[in-house]
This record gives sequence, C-alpha cells and structure tokens, in this order.
Amino acid sequence: MKKVLFSIILGLGMLSHANAFVGDAKAGKAKAATCAGCHGANGIGIMDAYPNIAGQHADYLAKQLKAFKSGERKDPVMAPMAAILSDQDMADVAAYYASFSRDGSAPAETATTTEETSTTATPVAAAPVKVEFVADAKSGKALYEHGDKARGITACIDCHGKEGNSDVLINPNLSAQHPEYIEKQLKAFKDVSRHNAAMNQVSGNLSNDDIANLGAYFKDPASVGEVKASAAIVAVKTFTGDIEAGKTKSATCAACHGADGNALVAIYPSIAGQSEAYLVKQLKDFKSGTRNDPVMAGMVAALSEDDIQNISAFFASQTLTPAVAETSALGKSLYMSGNAKEGISACIACHSVNGKGMDKAGFPAIAGQSATYLKSQLEKFRSKTRTNDNNGMMQNIALKLSDKDIDALASYMASLK
Ligand code: HEC
Ligand code: HEC
Ligand code: HEC
Ligand code: HEC
Repeated sequence: MKKVLFSIILGLGMLSHANAFVGDAKAGKAKAATCAGCHGANGIGIMDAYPNIAGQHADYLAKQLKAFKSGERKDPVMAPMAAILSDQDMADVAAYYASFSRDGSAPAETATTTEETSTTATPVAAAPVKVEFVADAKSGKALYEHGDKARGITACIDCHGKEGNSDVLINPNLSAQHPEYIEKQLKAFKDVSRHNAAMNQVSGNLSNDDIANLGAYFKDPASVGEVKASAAIVAVKTFTGDIEAGKTKSATCAACHGADGNALVAIYPSIAGQSEAYLVKQLKDFKSGTRNDPVMAGMVAALSEDDIQNISAFFASQTLTPAVAETSALGKSLYMSGNAKEGISACIACHSVNGKGMDKAGFPAIAGQSATYLKSQLEKFRSKTRTNDNNGMMQNIALKLSDKDIDALASYMASLK
C-alpha cells in the first residue's frame, strides 16, 4: 500500500510538468512517422491492440509519453518509442495527433465540406457490427453515466465527460476507442500495474463483466439509447458498524457536530454522510494523538474500537446539509486542474469531481463542508500541525498553496453540492 501511494504521488507530481512545452503540430507530423506504423498517420490504430490517439487531449498524450519514458507507465512496445523523444518532440507529436477529430478525420476547418457531402450521399443504414463476446453496451452505459454507489464505483462521466469526451484536459477522451484497449487498461488499473489514484480506486470495484460491458459501450457510445439508472444500480449504502448502537453513543458529539452530524457552528466540521472508513481513521488518529486536537482527544479517549466503528457508521449514514457558500473561479480552476507552474496537484484526482471523495481509498468528501473548517485544515496541513495524512500527501500539496489559494479553494469546495 505504501508503495502504491508513493507511486501515486510521483504520478501526480509528473502531472505538473506535462504542460511545460508548447507543441507544434507541423513539426509533430514529421516526428510521427514511426508512430504511424501502429497508430496510423491520423491517429487511428491500425489494429485493435493499438489505441486510437486521434483527437485526444495533447496534455494527456504528452503526459503518457513521459510516463512511458520514465517507466512509470510500463509497456514494452511504447518504452523504446518514447525513450528517444525529447520533451519538445513529445509536445509536437501530441499537438499533431490532438489536431485530428476523434474519428481520425482532418482538423475541423478542412473537414466540414467533405463531411457534409458524405452524410448526404449515403443514406443507407450501416450493417450491424458483429460482436464476438456477449457484452451488454446498455449496462456499460448505465455504469458509465450513473456509477454504482453500492459497490463504490464513481460514475465515469464525472471525469471522462458525456459519451467519453472530457472537458478536463488531464482526463483522457474515451470516445471512439478500441474496446480491447479500454478493457486492457481497466484491467491494468485494477491490478495496479498502471498507476493512477482515481482509476485504481474506480477499477478496483469493477468485475470482468463490467469491464466487458464498458468496452462494448465505447464501440459507439452515441448509438446506445437513453439509459436510466437501473434498480440494481440505485445506491444502497452498507456500513460495517451498527448504526443504532452508534446513535446511542453519539449523544456527546451532538453539542458541536449536531445530532445528525450537521454542525451548527462553522468552526466545527459537519460529519454527516462522510465516508465511514475515513471517520474511523480520524477517531483512531485523535485517540492515538496522530491527529493532534485537544478537544477531540478528550472526546474519544473513552471510546472502544466498537464504539468508534458504530459511531462512524451512524454519522456516515446521515445526510449532509451542504453549507451555503459563494463559488470561486480561482478555487474551481485549482481544484479541477491544479497549477502546473507551482506544482500543485489537481484536487479532483483524490477528492473526485463532485467533491464526494473516494470511500475505498479513504479520501474524504469535502463538498458542502463549512468553508471555515476547510480553510483551517488546509492551514494545518501547510504548517504541519495536522500530519495524519499517509505519506504526507496533503501536506505536500498544502505547502505550495498561498493564503489566497486556500481562501479560494475553501469557498469553492464549500459551494459544491
Ligand atoms: C509497434 C507499435 C507502436 C508504435 C510504433 C508506437 N506505438 Fe504508441 N502504443 C502502442 C501500444 C501497443 C500501446 C498501448 C500500450 C498499453 O497497453 O498500455 C500504445 C500506447 C500509446 C499511447 C497511450 C495512449 C492512451 O490512450 O493512453 C500514446 C500516447 C502513444 N502510444 C503514442 C505513440 C507515439 C507518439 C509514437 C511514435 C513516437 C508511438 N506511440 C509509436 C504501440 C505503438
Ligand atoms: C475521478 C476521476 C475519474 C473517474 C471517476 C474515472 N476515471 Fe478513468 N481516468 C481518469 C484519469 C485522470 C485517467 C488518466 C490516467 C493517466 O494519466 O494515466 C483515466 C484513464 C482511464 C482510461 C485509460 C485511457 C487511455 O487512453 O489509456 C480508461 C480506459 C478509463 N479511465 C476508464 C474509466 C471508466 C470505465 C470509468 C468508470 C467506471 C472511469 N474511467 C472513471 C479519471 C477518472
Ligand atoms: C466541544 C466540541 C466537540 C465535541 C463535543 C465533539 N467534537 Fe469532533 N471535532 C471538534 C473540533 C473542533 C474538530 C476539528 C479538529 C481539528 O481542527 O482538527 C472536530 C473534528 C472531528 C472529526 C474530524 C472531521 C473531519 O472531517 O476530519 C470527527 C470525525 C469528529 N470530530 C467526531 C466526533 C465525535 C464522534 C464526537 C463524539 C464522540 C465528537 N466529535 C465530539 C469538536 C467537537
Ligand atoms: C493524492 C490524493 C490527494 C490529493 C491530490 C488531494 N487530497 Fe486532500 N486529502 C487526501 C487525503 C487522503 C485526506 C485525508 C487524510 C487523513 O487521513 O486524515 C485529505 C484531506 C483533505 C482535507 C481535510 C478534510 C477533512 O474533513 O478534514 C481537505 C480540506 C483537503 N484534503 C483538501 C484538498 C485540496 C484543496 C486539494 C487540492 C489542492 C487536495 N485536497 C488534494 C488526499 C488528497
């Protein structure tokens, strides 16, 4: 686990340098001659084993090439290809392939006329695609758009966008990708041979059937009709602790955190709906002194392991009433994309796009939390007064935040619903 977390940090660190070089698509075209042998001259892989990279975000492509070069992403075919590329070469070929549309057609300006003639000229319906495996694209779409809270699977659409076209530049487009390639990557994230905090968490909960269904969906996302969350996919949260026993034990907490975990005073955190695993960790950390707070230390001193589990289950089962806060443009930009120049990792990588955190990885929800509390915690991580984050993952980020950044982030996170 330590090792995995360490690689995640390294991976996030690399992220910050992905933008350093401005690519030139013209220069990239010449440099892409070797790549065309597998990825096609227009970025459409010539075989299922070779991913389509046409119309992919340039930032993402450059980041992957660096990862292949450093060995952080392991692939015997791509490692030698990337090894001979300089940072400028990577930026150039990334710009070149990014200039195509996702289906490999030429850049928008030149493509429009040909596109029009071809659609009017061929009204004949395309022959149905023959599918070898019995995968179900509809189930894939349901999982993609709605996730499965009961199984801890975040909706892919949160990060990869509608029909696999993402707005966040470090989150790859998945549209028009070979299903075989999608499946291979999901399995690699699942067994952590490919490292990415968000994807390792999400894919850990995917079954082989889910993976095949998702692959089927990406064959042609636009062709799958409207899909609603099925009954099986509606959230049924389960808890390890005993909610009723926890409720009884929680009477002393109500004075500050509210009877249902919604704090009435902004200096106290709301803990309603927070991840059970995260709450358990915090209460144990307060008890052992790993997280240093004199008020909370007194509160947990007399609690047994069972009490801690049960109380956490109780508060986790409650519903958060989100704080009222103004959103912030600077906060949103830092949260979504980080700041490459200052080396600040994007918060979405761990706290997720909607701020709901990632249960299984122990990444807390921060959406709708009191801005005053959020600010106090970022300051505590920065001054190393709070040091209970594994491998210092929050301290390392907070160190690089200015007072202005912290105010903006606290207000943006508090405004998330
Ligand atoms: C011999 C075939 C081959 C050649 C030549 C090749 N690649 Fe690849 N490339 C692959 C394979 C196979 C993968 C998938 C690796 C995996 O499964 O993780 C890949 C993956 C990639 C990815 C990651 C795609 C994604 O969606 O994450 C990028 C980017 C890439 N190649 C760019 C290039 C560039 C740029 C060149 C030329 C300098 C190049 N490749 C040359 C076979 C090739
Ligand atoms: C919290 C954000 C987040 C969520 C949710 C998420 N992803 Fe990802 N995904 C990412 C990021 C970031 C990457 C790029 C990783 C890297 O840089 O190597 C990625 C990469 C991928 C890739 C590899 C793409 C390539 O071209 O190599 C696939 C496939 C993928 N995700 C599928 C999914 C599926 C399917 C789901 C839902 C079950 C999902 N993702 C949910 C953030 C997310
Ligand atoms: C006298 C007020 C007070 C009482 C009573 C109290 N707390 Fe707290 N609690 C706090 C304060 C203040 C903090 C923030 C500490 C910090 O800044 O690190 C906190 C933090 C927490 C956190 C961490 C929240 C997070 O998002 O990391 C948890 C969990 C928690 N309390 C649970 C409890 C439980 C369970 C009880 C009852 C057994 C309890 N508290 C009783 C004042 C109180
Ligand atoms: C590499 C993963 C990762 C990234 C990236 C990350 N965080 Fe965190 N964050 C965590 C973890 C893990 C914790 C909980 C640590 C613990 O166990 O106490 C946390 C805790 C927090 C807390 C305290 C929550 C509470 O209830 O006490 C805040 C606030 C926070 N993060 C904000 C941010 C902001 C803002 C960013 C982006 C600038 C960010 N995080 C980026 C992993 C991350």
